[in-house]
Amino acid sequence: MHSPKELTPMAPVETPAIAPRLLQSEQGDAAPISNGGPKVAKLPVPQPLAFDFYWNRFLALATSPRKLLNYIKFRNRTRTPIVDYLPIIFDVEPISRCNFHCTMCQVSDWPKYQRAADLPIEEFKKIIDSQYGLLEVKLQGYGEPTLARDAFFEMVKYARKHHLWVRTTTNASLLHLNGNYKKMIDSGINEVQISIDGATKEIFEKIRRGSKFEQVIENCKLINEYSNKKRVVRTRMWSTIQRENVHEFFDLLQLAKDAGFKRLTYSLNLHGMGQEKWVNQNHTISALECVTDDMCHEAIKRGKTLGIDVTFWKATEKYSTSSAKTVCAWPFERIFVSSDLRIVPCCLISNPQTADLGDARNFTAEWNGPVFQEFRKAHLEGRIPYYCQECYDKNDQPSSLKIVQQ
Ligand SMILES: C[S@@+](CC[C@H](N)C(=O)[O-])C[C@H]1O[C@@H](n2cnc3c(N)ncnc32)[C@H](O)[C@@H]1O
Ligand code: SF4
Repeated sequence: MHSPKELTPMAPVETPAIAPRLLQSEQGDAAPISNGGPKVAKLPVPQPLAFDFYWNRFLALATSPRKLLNYIKFRNRTRTPIVDYLPIIFDVEPISRCNFHCTMCQVSDWPKYQRAADLPIEEFKKIIDSQYGLLEVKLQGYGEPTLARDAFFEMVKYARKHHLWVRTTTNASLLHLNGNYKKMIDSGINEVQISIDGATKEIFEKIRRGSKFEQVIENCKLINEYSNKKRVVRTRMWSTIQRENVHEFFDLLQLAKDAGFKRLTYSLNLHGMGQEKWVNQNHTISALECVTDDMCHEAIKRGKTLGIDVTFWKATEKYSTSSAKTVCAWPFERIFVSSDLRIVPCCLISNPQTADLGDARNFTAEWNGPVFQEFRKAHLEGRIPYYCQECYDKNDQPSSLKIVQQ
């Protein structure tokens, strides 16, 4: 485990003592920087349905003066080691175990594909009740959220009762059981990403080990037909592109159509989750270099004829240490809580054995405690911890710290 106290220094970077006011996405994602592959910055990125999103936000702020005050402070924030607001987005991991063991995912390292115990619903409620700054919750980490059964839907409903914008990602393998596809939509959840990493049984099951292609696609049809019946758009197909499936790039569009999706996001490369072994391994199976701008624009065009909104996302090299504005936003505005109630820097790391910023049961004190202050300072001064380096522009880093061993 790395702690922020043992950060590896990077090349000195000019950073203003007081960071300029940040006017970036509140989702914690700066404008992507692209090295190789398509120019992601110029491609459309996944967005929530604007009316629903802002209406929810209005309701959340209108019903809690404390939340509104926190949000005003958040909007006026500067990127400094101590901040005067609480985060507006929490990623909470309901479960850290899975029924699949996909080739690119750290779950496949865990004994019986489980890292820790499930998050107790009472602890989830305590987070929602105490974190008055909250406007959004993403209920997912590494693991399959629907394995938590009704506790998962109870968490969604609890957060929705507070008008929080709630998202999740699922492998869809269990949606046919116990009416889960209906429970998912009826819980009031705002966005459900469904991971489909192959357009054929052969490729899908090769990547998503432990899966049954036909069942997953059947389940997508169930939830999409039910969404249509309820006249809501909540699902999005999410395809993580890699060497094994890049030749099915366009076939994924037709599959999205056949399975009833209206939105498809291509996640264009793999992340190493802050672990050296995975950084190296996933680099060898990433296919970013094989995806061109022309392919992306062609996919958008074909998507239009099929009635599918096509967007793109890149997992790595989104940030730069060139200024306080371009460093990662997470240390300043968003946090990940693991199922065993540890604070972890972000959802791509997700694992407190890789990076642990403190006890989530004591979050409000930890948020401006010495560990967080040092973590923020390290980002502002360009001393990026190893586990965060893959998200930074590789050209920023001295060759001795290059994440990928060439
Ligand atoms: C970690 S999974 C958890 C939720 C659920 N089990 C699922 O597969 O959708 C969330 C998403 O991360 C993607 N993913 C897994 N490992 C990844 C990696 N190393 N780099 C980028 N995305 C990854 C998956 O394909 C999936 O779309
Ligand atoms: S990507 Fe999702 S389904 Fe696959 S092993 Fe990881 S958590 Fe499980």
